[in-house]
Order: sequence, then C-alpha cells, then structure tokens
Amino acid sequence: MTKIVIAGAGYVGLVTGVCLAEAGHKVTCVDFIEDKIALLEKGISPIYEPGLNELIRKNMNADKLSFTTDYKNAYCDADVIFLGVGTPENEDGSANLNFIYTAARQIAETITHDCLVVIKSTVPMGTNDKVEVFIKNHLQHKVKVEVASNPEFLAQGTAVRDTLHASRIVIGVESEQAKQVLTAIYAPFNQPILTMSRRSAEMVKYASNDFLALKISFINDIANLCEAVGANIEEVTTGMSYDARIGDKFLNPGIGYGGSCFPKDTKALHWLSEEEGYVLRTVKAAIEVNEKQKFKLMKKARKDFASFQGLKIAVLGLTFKPGTDDLREAPSIPNIRLLLNEGAQVYAYDPIGVENFKKVYPTGVVYEETPEEALEDADLCFIFTEWEEIKTMDMKVFREKMKTPFVYDGRNCFSLTEAKAAGINYQSIGRPEVKAAAVVEQVKV
Ligand code: UGA
Repeated sequence: MTKIVIAGAGYVGLVTGVCLAEAGHKVTCVDFIEDKIALLEKGISPIYEPGLNELIRKNMNADKLSFTTDYKNAYCDADVIFLGVGTPENEDGSANLNFIYTAARQIAETITHDCLVVIKSTVPMGTNDKVEVFIKNHLQHKVKVEVASNPEFLAQGTAVRDTLHASRIVIGVESEQAKQVLTAIYAPFNQPILTMSRRSAEMVKYASNDFLALKISFINDIANLCEAVGANIEEVTTGMSYDARIGDKFLNPGIGYGGSCFPKDTKALHWLSEEEGYVLRTVKAAIEVNEKQKFKLMKKARKDFASFQGLKIAVLGLTFKPGTDDLREAPSIPNIRLLLNEGAQVYAYDPIGVENFKKVYPTGVVYEETPEEALEDADLCFIFTEWEEIKTMDMKVFREKMKTPFVYDGRNCFSLTEAKAAGINYQSIGRPEVKAAAVVEQVKV
C-alpha cells in the first residue's frame, strides 16, 4: 500500500488527508503545532468545516488516518508526501514560501526511500522546479525524488464536498512515473484527471482564482454603476446569466471578496507578472475595485450620519463568507476598526465567527448571541456576511428593535419588497435605496 503523508494540517492539508483516507488510502498528517495535533488525535477538527469532524473520526477508527508532530518518523519511509502548508502574502504582495522550503528541507534531510513530493499549496510558477532542485541538493540519503504539482480547488465551507466531488484534478508532472503514481492515488475519486506540465498546473490555480476574483470585481463595478444610473443589479445579473457563456455563478455583488485565497492570489500573480516585466492590467483592476468596495457601506452610511461617534451600531456577520469561522481578509475587520476609531459602540453577532473575532478584538466590541440582541436600541446596522440566520430574519425585527432602523446590507440578503413592507431605511449593493418616510425624519445629520 502506498504510504501517504501530508505536510501541514490546515484547510488544504487536513481536508486532503481526510478525503484521501476516505477514498481508501492510509494517511498520516504532520503539523508542527502541537495543540492542533493534540486536538486531532482526540478526533476534533481545529477548523469548522461541514462534515470534516465526522470523516476524521470515521477514518481514525478505521485505522486509515493518523496525526503526528514527528515529521522525521512520518517522512522517512513515505512513498508520497503532499505539501499543504500555507503560502501567505509578503508585505509586497508576493507569495511567502518559507513553509514550503522548511518542509522541503525536512523532507530532504529525512527520507530514506524513493519519494514523490506533491505540492498542493498555491505556489508561483516555477516553484515546483525550484523545490525539486532544492530537495535534491539537500538529500542525506541516496534516493530518487521527484516533485509534482497538484493544486487544490476547494472552497471553505464546502471543502469536503469540493474534494470528494471535485470538478477536476489537475496534475503537473514531468515524468510518466509521477503521472502513474498520482493517477492511481486519485483513481477512487472517479473525477476527470487533467495531466499537464508543472508550470501549467501552477498557472491553472492562479488563473482560476484570479478569474473568479475578476468576475466578482467586475460585477461590483457594474453594481456601483447601477446605483448611479438607477438600474438594479439583480435584474441585470439575471438578464446576463441566461447567456450560457456568462452563467449565473460568482455574479453576486457585495462588499468585495475576502478570505485566505483571492486577495493573496490576485496580489501574488500581479506581483509575479511585474517581475516578469508584464503588467496584468485586468488583475490589477480587480484588486483596486476590491479595495474600494470593502468600504462601500461606510460611504453610504456617512451620507445619513454626520459621525459615528457615540452611536450604537449593530453588526450582523463577521466572517469573510458564510459556512466558515475564518476571518482572514474579512471586510468586517477594517470596517469595525474604522467604527471603533470613530468612537462608535459596536454590538456584533455571528453564528460561528465570534470566538475567532475575539482574538482580533478581545475588547471594544460587545458580542451578542442573537441578531435581535445586537439590534436592540441600535442607531444603525451593517450586514457584512450573508449567513442563513441573517437572511431568514423577519425584516420587521429591524423596525421593532432598533432606535432608528437604518440598515446597510453589504450582501443583498433581503428583497427590496420585504424592506419596503418592513418600513425601514434600507440600502444594499447595486439596488435602489428603500426609504421609510417615518424613519427619514429621524435622520441624525
Ligand atoms: C476560493 C475558490 O472559490 C476556490 O475554488 C479555491 O480553491 C480557494 O479559493 C483556494 O484558493 O483555496 P474561498 O476563498 O473558500 O474559495 O471562497 P469563495 O466561496 O470563492 O469566496 C471568496 C470570496 O468571494 C468571499 O468573500 C465571498 O463572499 C466573495 N464572493 C463570492 C462574492 O463577493 N460574490 C460572489 O458571487 C462569490
């Protein structure tokens, strides 16, 4: 049986490891964070991801999945080592490959057995080539090593489903042997396997993420113009989506894309293209539109309120998107910073993200258990994440609970008809403003 080891038990590594075990392989996940491994050894996932905990326990019980901090023991006789370590953003926007090279050095110094190293982490074009040379240069034993690229396309909140039912598996290899090993590993998944060069595989990942980011920024740009010319973005996207070449996915306007991938991957590709002497104008535009879009609700609220100082502000939704407790690049963070700096009192609700948000703001924000509690006596409300718990609220609650029901919705959670019927002042993205006559009289400017 192929001995598979995963380096890095974060989103990518952990989900990959668990799903490979679910597909029938024997897998060991390695991470240097002891607390994380201790939790996993008890069958508890350190991240919130639907279905993940169940699969961890199931495969541990079936003796197909184990966790360790002892990388030497895990790597030494591995047949295949997947790298799922983080590649965060450097100050200048480039990708930070420190974790990749640390793992590569540990692998080189430890393996006593021929091994295929598979890079799952998102890395700039040419990294697979460089890592292969690096490992070969640092080998301590006479063994054969090859590096293959196998980018992942899972989205947070649907990571298990995306892995078990992926649209495609991309494999970048430079030898028939590596192709065969990876094809055999992925055979049980029964998904289309696309084999190509390592550099093309690396590029597929960036190009896919940057295209999706561009799609979001484009629709946000159009939504902003809709507001200026009196059109409704929902009607516009519906009209566009009937063209199969455009489709109806990733056309939801909002306060910009966040998370650990799009912001980092757009900047990394833009940085890399400049290094190569080419300006990737479309990606640059996507980044610029997104930066501005984050503060779109503040701009709207400032037209109604001269200052936020001393106001009670309800914030519904903290995470960068629903279905995850991840706050990386969440628009809520810079917006709440701005509100607190201006002396507002912030009362926040999020169904899952509060514990993580407390690490960002241990003080200064009041965390509430329900949207109703956050809205109690509030002067205005911002909606930053489209959680089901928020989208399914009866809009009358805003009128009943708030002191002055001014609602700024960054994710178009509610229909304009509902907002009108609720008698509140409601502003969203790319759609006409709803004004409630009785409320407008109370404007505090
Ligand atoms: C993204 C990609 O969707 C995955 O395919 C990819 O594998 C992953 O990055 C990665 O590189 O690891 P993720 O960051 O989890 O996944 O989240 P998405 O669901 O793509 O959403 C990203 C951001 O775009 C969120 O802030 C979301 O609110 C925003 N978004 C998404 C919109 O504003 N409008 C949309 O129509 C769709």
